[in-house]
Amino acid sequence: MDSRELGLLLARQLFNLDDLHFGMWDEGLEVRLSNIPLAQQRFSDYLIDKMPSLDEGGPLRVLDVGCGTGQLLCRLLERGYRADGVSPSHTLNRVILERLKGMATVGHKAQLFPCRFEDLDTSSLTGLYDIVLFSESFQFIKIHRALEKLGSVLKPNGLVLICDTFSLTGPRQDPIRSGHSLEKFFRLIDGSPLRQVADEDITQRVSPTIALLEDVMQNRVKPALDSAHHYLRGRHPVMTRLAKALWGRRFRRTCDRHCGGDYTQQTFEATKSYRFFAYTLGPGKGSERVAAS
Ligand SMILES: C[S@@+](CC[C@H](N)C(=O)[O-])C[C@H]1O[C@@H](n2cnc3c(N)ncnc32)[C@H](O)[C@@H]1O
Repeated sequence: MDSRELGLLLARQLFNLDDLHFGMWDEGLEVRLSNIPLAQQRFSDYLIDKMPSLDEGGPLRVLDVGCGTGQLLCRLLERGYRADGVSPSHTLNRVILERLKGMATVGHKAQLFPCRFEDLDTSSLTGLYDIVLFSESFQFIKIHRALEKLGSVLKPNGLVLICDTFSLTGPRQDPIRSGHSLEKFFRLIDGSPLRQVADEDITQRVSPTIALLEDVMQNRVKPALDSAHHYLRGRHPVMTRLAKALWGRRFRRTCDRHCGGDYTQQTFEATKSYRFFAYTLGPGKGSERVAAS
């Protein structure tokens, strides 16, 4: 398990969350911890609204890449999409498989591919999917490897939906390195067969999530870590000194990054761009297939 996966699992366990993405804080939703599940549901609703409608001749095959706990995957199945998931996390895969039990819609039993998207064996999936969805998972995948795999699994006129954080190039230092460089992403997409059909900047709609996380890190996690440190230093001074010598620098760096107070909603808005993108492989009127906001 790497540190990013640990972060996702801790967030899920600490806040009892079913979704692992940002929340969407529209329409006067009060920014407080107890509203995170509602804000996350609004984020999922936003994505589902972007999916091409099944009324226009479905069924549609969907690949949910980095499907988290399987929450969105199951919602898609409930709506009649023939959806499968990709997930490299052993821990999350147990949750997803549990959720998928009994979820198969008529004619489709959802598959879970327990691997990284980069390692997906596409030999039996060539040209299979109408839609490949990355809900806050694109940042974890090398762009050129993602593009290669998309070329294999997408139908000729298939759609790619990406909703994720990207890093901006600018004078402000990015305190947390998350998200691909937007500039690099555009450059690589320009050299690919994908054609853009939608681009929405939703940074301001999701950024209040950062204010909540910052509050939790500063006012709950940091004091809890300080108390644990004081306790251990008093009870086990030798072990504590040893642990500090071995992992102290790395631990301090992680704490400074996440609890240091540098990562605020304002810094996020200045250094990141949270985007919804849709791309198609096919020529013609792809934009008509993605609902406008
Ligand atoms: C922030 S979570 C988003 C989860 C889910 N899509 C959602 O919207 O709630 C990131 C997801 O990407 C997955 N992931 C990380 N690296 C990946 C990779 N290389 N290939 C596919 N999925 C990956 C993680 O296991 C996790 O499920």
